[in-house]
Amino acid sequence: MKAVVYDRYGPPDLLRVEEVPVPSPGAKQVLVEVVATSVNLSDWECLRGSPLYARICGLRSPRRRTLGSDIAGRVAAVGDAVTRFRVDDEVYGDNLQLKGGFAEYTIATEAVLAPKPKELTFADAATLPQAGAIALQGTRGVVAGQRVLINGGGGGSGAFAIQLAKRAGAHVTGIDNAGKLEFMRSLGADEVGDYRCQDFSDFSPFDRILDLVATRSVFACRRALAPGGRYQCVGGAVRTLLPIVTLGALVGRATRRRVGMLAVDLGPPHFEPLAELCRAGEVRIHIDRTFRLEEVPQALSYVGEGRALGKVVVAIVPA
Ligand SMILES: NC(=O)c1ccc[n+]([C@@H]2O[C@H](COP(=O)([O-])OP(=O)(O)OC[C@H]3O[C@@H](n4cnc5c(N)ncnc54)[C@H](OP(=O)(O)O)[C@@H]3O)[C@@H](O)[C@H]2O)c1
Repeated sequence: MKAVVYDRYGPPDLLRVEEVPVPSPGAKQVLVEVVATSVNLSDWECLRGSPLYARICGLRSPRRRTLGSDIAGRVAAVGDAVTRFRVDDEVYGDNLQLKGGFAEYTIATEAVLAPKPKELTFADAATLPQAGAIALQGTRGVVAGQRVLINGGGGGSGAFAIQLAKRAGAHVTGIDNAGKLEFMRSLGADEVGDYRCQDFSDFSPFDRILDLVATRSVFACRRALAPGGRYQCVGGAVRTLLPIVTLGALVGRATRRRVGMLAVDLGPPHFEPLAELCRAGEVRIHIDRTFRLEEVPQALSYVGEGRALGKVVVAIVPA
């Protein structure tokens, strides 16, 4: 089978297409014939080995030679202890631990997969597992009338988060680069700002902040909150995240605010509710571009270098 592989952290040109053996599933694993895989910022981070937390995939060199977490495809074989799926079932899920989605076949643990809703295409389904889990948890508890900031709102998770916060009746501010402002407005953002020339404090105070790419100090995050407000980040440079994780609770509590990192729970219960909303037409899936397997380096660059509006998909089996 064809797989896109790499052996050391670095730029996209380290990726190459290789013929490799089709893997065999273990007892609780499923062999998936991949139809579509969406690109997440986490793929870009694991390619570069940066931020440092991306090296959880291997400190000096990557443990998994093939990236690609968010997969959608058909079950090609199941291990002896698999009970929920049979050959030919259509499935999707976030295979963050084992990865391997930028290939014709990959192995996933049964527990990370869900049956693909018939109404969603494979490409649509592949956009949901990781970004959906982040967006749902990052907007959980938002209520009507709150002022909500989605920092990084024009990317994969942010595009869903803006729509979810709007559905809850919040006043939503989306911040991203200038090329994504119109897109965020089209998703329902009430106010938008360009992070390259504006600070999110220009739009504060907020009751909730979901920060997809943390760059501000823990004190700046607190200052942007209204009394009782909550700031949660999910990614960013380690030097920014560390103070938020270690000092955030303390710094926030002293002023009746909450500042911290959101440890996102992944897996079907955490993304299927979003699939339901998409199926019902209440949340829109925006696929900016679709690439072929041979174009995975370009797909990763497109996301990593800041051009993607919403999600980017690699069609392993061309539509
Ligand atoms: N905490 C957890 O448990 C967990 C689990 C899974 C994933 N994650 C992390 O969650 C994040 C998810 O991001 P995603 O998939 O939504 O990424 P994405 O699609 O790349 O979106 C991120 C957006 O943020 C924008 N951005 C970059 N720097 C910014 C800044 N200083 N201010 C405002 N916006 C900025 C980007 O714009 P540009 O295009 O200009 O760069 C991009 O539009 C990743 O960092 C991933 O590692 C966390």
